[in-house]
Amino acid sequence: MTQLTLTQPDDWHLHLRDGAALRDVVVDSARQFGRAIVMPNLKPPVTTVEDALAYRQRILAVLPEGSAFDPLMTLYLTDQTTADEVRRVDDTAETYAFKLYPAGATTNSEAGVSQLEALYPLLEVMERHDVPLLVHGEVTDPGIDIFDREKVFIERHLSPLLERFPCLRVVLEHITTREGAEFILDSRSGVGATITAHHLLFNRNALLAGGIRPHFYCLPILKREPHRQALLKAATSGNPKFFLGTDSAPHARQQKESACGCAGCYTAHAALELYATAFASAGAIGQLEAFASLHGADFYRLPRNTRRITLEQSPWDIPDWQRCGDEELIPFLAGETVQWRFISAESPAARPG
Ligand code: DOR
Ligand code: ZN
Repeated sequence: MTQLTLTQPDDWHLHLRDGAALRDVVVDSARQFGRAIVMPNLKPPVTTVEDALAYRQRILAVLPEGSAFDPLMTLYLTDQTTADEVRRVDDTAETYAFKLYPAGATTNSEAGVSQLEALYPLLEVMERHDVPLLVHGEVTDPGIDIFDREKVFIERHLSPLLERFPCLRVVLEHITTREGAEFILDSRSGVGATITAHHLLFNRNALLAGGIRPHFYCLPILKREPHRQALLKAATSGNPKFFLGTDSAPHARQQKESACGCAGCYTAHAALELYATAFASAGAIGQLEAFASLHGADFYRLPRNTRRITLEQSPWDIPDWQRCGDEELIPFLAGETVQWRFISAESPAARPG
């Protein structure tokens, strides 16, 4: 039996939701990961440090007994965000970054930024306080094809932004294209990218060929095969600019299986198994630890985890559905067999702080 023991990974991009759903989904992440960067796109969004700290308490309150899972909080950047709020993020140990959603780009992004360049004075404050900017990198211009929105965002917005703010730490979240991977590779230090398991495993045929499969619909949308291959190459390259971010994004079954289905794939139930499958497919399972457990912590200047976890190569079946509050959640690859299995984490250390 092939076993793989590695430093406990962290999830540098996670949606946990709130209320009844939160309790049912956080257990999946807490079982595998030490920490997670928690996305702020709740309804209403998490726009202040006060909101973020209250949300963090709600997360901690529903963690399983003895869990050491540490939620790292982010704030949602809006047209109204103030310089004072940026300073508060810097001064608060539990808050780590601002998330930029271009208004209208994705789920719960209505309160997002309407014109990025208008926020340059605020980005200057973020740069000065060394508060990272996490970017949903897609234009919302209806004239731009949905498959090109990441590439165009990089050209129109990200490239000039990085020129203008040479010291701002930036994460281009969930990259999905060859252009995205190449852009990150060519960028200065202090610029990184997360990559999801589903974008490493699937191209757009999974979504659209032989029938429309809403559980493969996420934003940024799955791309062509050469893009998937470029992402796999980047993730397995050992380059510290690339790190794990599941973008696990639960939506109730009715919201996904609908005439206008929501964007988001729920992958937290089998996150490491999915990444291990992708890395093994590239003959690069030995690179998983650096991508999943080391690079992200280094980017965020946090200590690497000291616990170890073990995966083994043995098949198991993903359940057809799981509970999410009062609703059903269809986990990614429901009913299918995966070849890797998360078997254990060392007993939890006390939660820091
Ligand atoms: O597919 C996605 N789902 N992409 C996002 O950017 C947001 C996320 C969500 O919150 O559901
Ligand atoms: Zn996300």
